[in-house]
Amino acid sequence: MEAMNTCASCHATLNDAKLRAPAREFGGSVHRDDRIGCVGCHNGDARDPTVGAHSKAAGFDPHPTHSQVPVICGGCHSDAGFMRRINGRLPVGQAALFNLSLHGKLSAAGDPNAPDCSGCHGKHDVLSPTSPRSPVNRANVARLCSGCHSEETRMAKYGIRTDQFAKWEKSAHGVAFKKGNPNAPTCTGCHGAHASAPPDASSVAHACGRCHEEEMAFFEQSPHSQGFRKRGLAQCVACHSNHDVAPASAILVGTTPDASCMKCHSHDEKPRKAADDIAALLRGARERAAEARAAVARARDRGQHITGAGLALDHVATAEMKVRGVVHTLDPARMEARIGEIDRAVAETLRLVADAERARLLERRGYYVALGLAGLLLLTLTLKVVQLDRRRRRGGA
Ligand code: HEC
Ligand code: HEC
Ligand code: HEC
Ligand code: HEC
Ligand code: HEC
Ligand code: HEC
Ligand code: HEC
Ligand code: HEC
Ligand code: HEC
Repeated sequence: MEAMNTCASCHATLNDAKLRAPAREFGGSVHRDDRIGCVGCHNGDARDPTVGAHSKAAGFDPHPTHSQVPVICGGCHSDAGFMRRINGRLPVGQAALFNLSLHGKLSAAGDPNAPDCSGCHGKHDVLSPTSPRSPVNRANVARLCSGCHSEETRMAKYGIRTDQFAKWEKSAHGVAFKKGNPNAPTCTGCHGAHASAPPDASSVAHACGRCHEEEMAFFEQSPHSQGFRKRGLAQCVACHSNHDVAPASAILVGTTPDASCMKCHSHDEKPRKAADDIAALLRGARERAAEARAAVARARDRGQHITGAGLALDHVATAEMKVRGVVHTLDPARMEARIGEIDRAVAETLRLVADAERARLLERRGYYVALGLAGLLLLTLTLKVVQLDRRRRRGGA
């Protein structure tokens, strides 16, 4: 069959840039396949080389409206049979998810402030999300979302905050993202791409727990799991917040006024005691770990190279990291096992430093002994020379 797209070939020759651009952009897009063509979205008769191609009888639609776009895109992207024929690897069902989202509901109602499919993907220049030039590519998507969500004038009528990007960018997640950590969530890592809706209290924890499985498991074993659910508190977010998740070390456990526990427990006896016990255990372990690091640093300052010290300090760091997750159980007894791991790694580090120090002292002692012997030898030689010299002079006289 002869492939035909008279729409593209005629539009590519038109003088008006607005009429010409779609043909050029389309040629570089994912939709350039002849089985999709311009008629995939606009209908019309792509075999007619005249403006008769704009055939009303063939359903030509020059300006799909905001509420029609998801129906047009979804028409193909929800049709598993059709999609399989052209690209069997593409998932289907984006439109079904999108329609459930607040974006979908608003754009179906014609709200121009909410994105339809084209608002995120473009119209004629739709690319695969893996392309670095796609607006929905992982590297670009936070900018795309914030293009609307940080716009105060656009968002004013909805009464929602406009600080999500600014906060996320500085958060532990934003910083890890910028460093190239492939697992750090950008906006879609928590919200999803097509169901961008406010996660309710239970799915909030789901979003975090998908990546932080261990913390999630510990949280679920704690009295907070039930207690939070009963009171409708947002699980992880109640302590870590959502967009400005701080590095864990910035979240304090304890009974000082700035400790996170005091937001809710300033008068509760049992939680206060748990907070104090946990804080003391963490503080003690961290002090001992700091001691080990300092001992290695001092040794390095003296110019000593300690075999295995780097590895031993890595063990200390790993053990420290592992103990933080257990905080979520709120059970000091369960922390003690992991504190034991820190202490063992600290002891190993200190042993290596001590061994190296002993070796250094031995070496230095050997050096002084050698120096002493050399001095003695020199002295004997000098005496001998003097003696010989005297003898020679006496013999000559
Ligand atoms: C022979 C050249 C030619 C062919 C073939 C052609 N067009 Fe056009 N198209 C034009 C011209 C010229 C205009 C502007 C004048 C008008 O609206 O008729 C236009 C207008 C349009 C517009 C409306 C733009 C606007 O801002 O109002 C759309 C959309 C469009 N064409 C899509 C198509 C599609 C889809 C096909 C194929 C089914 C197609 N064209 C085939 C020449 C052509
Ligand atoms: C993936 C869907 C899709 C495909 C394929 C597609 N278009 Fe469009 N096109 C749209 C949408 C959506 C609009 C926007 C309607 C609006 O905003 O009024 C549009 C608008 C246009 C316009 C008006 C220009 C403008 O900026 O408002 C022209 C002309 C046009 N298309 C021509 C084409 C031609 C020619 C092709 C094939 C080379 C094509 N389109 C393929 C979705 C598509
Ligand atoms: C006529 C059917 C059809 C329509 C209408 C259509 N698409 Fe597609 N789309 C496809 C097919 C088929 C592919 C796969 C092309 C390929 O891989 O060669 C595709 C690919 C894509 C991809 C790339 C997926 C990937 O990972 O490579 C995106 C994104 C996309 N379409 C979005 C849209 C959007 C947004 C609209 C509406 C503006 C739309 N599509 C309208 C059929 C369609
Ligand atoms: C709020 C922005 C946004 C809207 C609106 C949107 N998408 Fe997407 N879409 C994305 C992002 C981001 C991705 C990248 C994949 C991901 O992060 O999961 C994507 C990926 C895709 C893909 C490729 C899927 C894959 O796994 O390769 C297709 C196809 C697609 N979208 C179609 C649509 C269709 C159809 C609509 C409208 C019904 C739509 N999108 C609306 C943001 C959006
Ligand atoms: C074209 C502008 C636009 C783009 C692009 C956009 N949004 Fe939205 N979004 C809106 C509007 C408008 C609302 C509705 C606000 C409301 O009613 O509370 C909204 C609502 C939301 C909500 C629900 C807020 C609430 O309080 O109910 C979330 C979550 C959201 N968007 C996330 C995202 C993410 C993530 C992206 C990027 C993948 C994105 N948005 C891209 C305009 C946009
Ligand atoms: C670490 C997960 C996470 C990331 C990353 C994230 N969000 Fe959110 N976002 C949430 C949660 C959870 C909520 C629900 C609010 C709550 O229950 O406290 C939310 C709420 C929202 C809302 C509703 C209004 C508000 O502020 O409460 C919008 C809009 C939104 N996010 C947009 C974004 C955008 C844009 C990005 C990227 C710059 C982003 N989010 C990144 C988890 C995240
Ligand atoms: C009661 C408050 C609270 C709740 C609820 C909470 N956390 Fe934490 N989280 C903390 C504290 C405190 C620390 C830091 C302990 C330390 O390092 O001193 C922490 C540390 C972390 C860390 C870094 C430590 C590590 O294991 O790498 C992650 C990740 C984390 N939390 C994720 C979560 C997730 C996911 C949830 C929900 C399932 C959650 N948190 C619920 C208080 C909380
Ligand atoms: C898509 C995966 C993903 C999601 C979803 C996610 N995170 Fe993270 N999180 C990460 C990665 C990756 C890091 C960076 C770890 C690093 O820097 O080594 C991180 C870091 C953190 C940290 C700092 C840990 C530290 O060592 O200081 C905390 C706390 C945290 N996340 C809590 C949360 C909370 C709360 C949520 C839900 C609102 C959440 N995360 C959602 C992947 C995720
Ligand atoms: C967002 C509020 C909130 C924060 C922050 C919070 N808690 Fe709780 N905590 C609760 C709720 C609600 C319960 C359940 C109380 C109930 O069911 O009566 C609870 C229960 C407890 C219990 C069990 C008490 C019992 O009677 O068995 C302990 C222990 C506890 N929390 C310790 C902590 C520690 C330690 C921190 C700081 C790391 C902390 N909590 C932070 C709200 C909070």
